[in-house]
Amino acid sequence: MSATVTVLKHPLIEHKLAILRNRETDNKLFRSTLEELSYLLVYEITRDLALRPVRIHTPLAPCDALQLAEQVLLVPVLRAGLGMVSGILNLIPSAKVGHVGVYRDEHSLQPVEYYFRLPPDAASMRTFLLDPMLATGGSLAHAVELLKTKGGIERITVVSILAAPEGLDALHAAHPDVEIYTAMLDDHLNEHGYILPGLGDCGDRLFGTL
Ligand code: PRP
Ligand code: URA
Repeated sequence: MSATVTVLKHPLIEHKLAILRNRETDNKLFRSTLEELSYLLVYEITRDLALRPVRIHTPLAPCDALQLAEQVLLVPVLRAGLGMVSGILNLIPSAKVGHVGVYRDEHSLQPVEYYFRLPPDAASMRTFLLDPMLATGGSLAHAVELLKTKGGIERITVVSILAAPEGLDALHAAHPDVEIYTAMLDDHLNEHGYILPGLGDCGDRLFGTL
């Protein structure tokens, strides 16, 4: 595994992953669990956000305090990345949200781009690219390329829930500068490019299109 990959370990993450993976989990519980999992990941992925000093007044006295100095940008890869946005926004309500529409062709497994929209000044923002599934890595590698070339964004942090070793290697080979966080490193891909043991098709389970 590349040095830029961090697998986040926590009992609550394991517990919620078991719910996501379970085929008995319905769309409603799947959505709320993905939101909760994303919320749990925020604490770690934002550990190095820059702070600036501010002078405030408590009800009792003046006080030197710290507040976020960076504008955070969340970029979900449509569709499944949408399931991660609200959990993170709960903790960082000031974050802006861009969108990258990429799906993978079911036969070639190659990424197909259909939407791209970022807020103005995205290049200056601390950017988190969200996709729960890092399978072959093709979709995320393509999304990173778009953020760099069309968005002018230099520092990109990828946040996923399940990653396959094949996808991590491919993403790292294409973009060695990108930091990758994942809640779990799974075993391998099957012959259709699905993560095993995985959780199935994340977009379909989120939106009930199975
Ligand atoms: C899924 C998932 C990732 C991609 C991962 O999206 O949300 O974006 O597959 O696969 P890869 O690493 O092999 O590229 P999908 O193509 O199913 O699109 P959808 O979310 O719109 O259903
Ligand atoms: N996309 C998914 O939703 N699941 C996988 O296992 C692979 C790609």
